[in-house]
Amino acid sequence: MAKDVIIACDFSSAEATYAFLDQFTGRKPFVKIGMELFYAEGPEIVRQIKARGHQIFLDLKLHDIPNTVKKAMAVLSRLDVDICNLHAAGTIPMMEAALEGLTRSDGTRPLLIAVTQLTSTDQQHMESDLLIREPMDQVVLHYARNARAAGLDGVVCSPLEAGKVHDSCGQAFLAVTPGVRFADGDAGDQKRVTTPAKARELGSDYIVVGRPITAAADPVAAYARCLQEFLGE
Ligand code: C5P
Repeated sequence: MAKDVIIACDFSSAEATYAFLDQFTGRKPFVKIGMELFYAEGPEIVRQIKARGHQIFLDLKLHDIPNTVKKAMAVLSRLDVDICNLHAAGTIPMMEAALEGLTRSDGTRPLLIAVTQLTSTDQQHMESDLLIREPMDQVVLHYARNARAAGLDGVVCSPLEAGKVHDSCGQAFLAVTPGVRFADGDAGDQKRVTTPAKARELGSDYIVVGRPITAAADPVAAYARCLQEFLGE
């Protein structure tokens, strides 16, 4: 299975994104486009980055009634992205509808992965705000199994949960993991972090790396270091 480093392009304009991507004259990184950039620039930013030769993870985290998500996914599948996502909290019928919407008439589709519990949600808020009283790791695994049952390709989770996700949902079920930092780097607002090398050891399939690359003095060198640590390249 392909393993790769995905750069989170958390920029607010196309201009800033292109200035960043223009630095990569060799290997074209796999790029994550999130809500900030997509809402600022619309679908055209996806087409442009694709045309530049990058693979794209479109991180819009859909969560609505099944029919709405199905129709929205049908629109997104025309953008020819490689991975897109939704919230597993939308339930199995919503995930199944999403998959149906995403599948093109020729049977092809982007990979579809599910957000389990956001890493910004802690046990206390999950219990008090959502009335979910099981331990966080059990909730994450339960959501992952739901995603698997609905036919999805994987989940977004912490590298620390990647092994359990694979044990529970199979080795081919993708663990896409943010929260990655260099051993000598700043964790910022991420709480549970691991290095690219540790993420590899723990079984991550794709690591999503933002600020350690985007805010580095030399982003190309930081990306090369990630590849080296995660892929051994
Ligand atoms: O800059 P940093 O490496 O922390 O960026 C991580 C990226 O992964 C951000 O785009 C963030 O929104 C995303 N993400 C995350 N935790 C999740 C889901 C997505 O950090 N649970």
